[in-house]
Amino acid sequence: MKSILVIGSGVAGVTAALEAVDRYDVTLLTKSDLAQSNTRYAQGGVAVVTTEDDSVESHVADTLLAGAGLSDEDTVRVLCAEGPEAIDELIDRGVKFDQVDGHLAHGLEAAHSYARILHAGGDATGAGIAYALIDRLRASAVVIRESTTAVDLVIEDGAAVGVTLLDGEVLRADAVILATGGAGQLYPYTTNPEVATGDGVAMALRAGAIVSDLEFYQFHPTSLDAPGNFLVSEAVRGEGAVLIDRDGERFMLGIHPDAELAPRDVVARGIATQMAKQPGVPIRLDATALGAEFLARRFPNIDAACRAQGFDWGNEPIPVTPAAHYWMGGVRTDEWGRTSIRGLYAVGEVACNGLHGANRLASNSLLEGAVYGTRCIAALEDPPPAEDWDADWAQPFDLDLVDRDDADDFTRNDLQTLMWNAAGLTRAGDGMRAAVSRLAAWKSPEVTDAKSAEDANLLIVSRAVLAMALARQESRGGHYRSDFPDALPAPAHHSSAAQK
Ligand code: FAD
Ligand code: SIN
Repeated sequence: MKSILVIGSGVAGVTAALEAVDRYDVTLLTKSDLAQSNTRYAQGGVAVVTTEDDSVESHVADTLLAGAGLSDEDTVRVLCAEGPEAIDELIDRGVKFDQVDGHLAHGLEAAHSYARILHAGGDATGAGIAYALIDRLRASAVVIRESTTAVDLVIEDGAAVGVTLLDGEVLRADAVILATGGAGQLYPYTTNPEVATGDGVAMALRAGAIVSDLEFYQFHPTSLDAPGNFLVSEAVRGEGAVLIDRDGERFMLGIHPDAELAPRDVVARGIATQMAKQPGVPIRLDATALGAEFLARRFPNIDAACRAQGFDWGNEPIPVTPAAHYWMGGVRTDEWGRTSIRGLYAVGEVACNGLHGANRLASNSLLEGAVYGTRCIAALEDPPPAEDWDADWAQPFDLDLVDRDDADDFTRNDLQTLMWNAAGLTRAGDGMRAAVSRLAAWKSPEVTDAKSAEDANLLIVSRAVLAMALARQESRGGHYRSDFPDALPAPAHHSSAAQK
């Protein structure tokens, strides 16, 4: 029987492992416990077409619009068309989506034309999915290795044949599936848990794989402006909560016709601009019209998080601030999760298959993990014709990410602050060039433990993000440059690069 190594225990990795286990020897590694993942913390829900009045075409159109010209229509169609089947599979695997009167309940989120967001436990959709899948995983024949950090890919004759671990152990397999999630820890303010350090992209870069669109990072508009930046779901605005300035006025009304439900990048920048106009006074989210009883029932986790920070959101507006949330870029794949390296697959947030373009539509990523976690196993079984890597996407440019001889040590805090200032919500050429020089002067730490492995990954990923952000001389979706505030009139192009 052939063997597969899956790296990561979020929705993408566990789905792939469960799909494969009947036909392959599957080992799943995860660097913390199984439940530590972005998946576990997801709130709003899963966007999918499950009602007669909604349509796949509408879901496709909304996703393409959010993607700001950079989404690949075929990939988007795969997600939206295969989504309903993936949801049936999740339900089969034990996920209990919330219901009203015996039917699935549907929430509304920004930039969706229909209320098509399925949720679980009110605002605990990620936990509902993660724990159901983990139960299935534990009951399966998948070999599970928790607290096990993959450090690097093993490449032989141009193919991925395994990974190395922190203690130098080498695990070999016929195929390696990266499902390592995002990189919110690039920034000091993030909704992501500590495990989100861009490891998969860093490993792929060191192995010479093509990566794409790394400059596109999505900042969620509304995290609680308090330590930990707990997410206050977009679904709260979907239910009617509004953003107010220091005078209690709804400033988003003057920025976009959809006001608080405008695309995420627009709302996040609207908040940041207003924050700059009222230094020291937070922007607030006013959900009081929804009533304390409704808020506690519909959003029990956010309710608890507000209370833990001393906020009574049923009776007073709460302070909110943008925070790094989702990485649209990643290891470039085709629509089957195949990367430019034979035997190496990437699924979920670590991958860039062109689905999200320049800006992910809310609640499309849990679905992506479920759909593409399944598809990569189908491609392993019965490989479709391979992609011509250079035909569809721009010819990759080289990234020079190696350390200089005279480089200095850095702290994670230094790196996060630098990235927030230079490659955050608003970027500009001068700030990015200064940050590139600073990053070049830092040396990659010797990898002795999980923390130093993560720091080394954050450094290489930061260098790659900035290289792509500097190269893109326009503003589009999650990449906004004050020195190039408009989108280029030419058709949108992907950024593609590989390490020299
Ligand atoms: P993850 O779920 O992040 O899993 C990655 C896994 O890889 C983790 O287990 C991690 O420990 C492991 N790992 C990483 N590096 C290594 C390594 N070197 N070795 C071993 N293991 C490693 N999306 C939606 O669609 N709807 C939502 O409502 C929603 N809400 C969100 C709310 C929050 C607070 C956050 C943070 C995200 C939210 N998202 C939402 C985004 C969504 O949760 C993620 O994009 C999605 O869950 C990613 O799934 P994944 O399987 O690709 O990665
Ligand atoms: C949220 O609940 O606002 C997050 C949804 C998402 O990121 O898709």
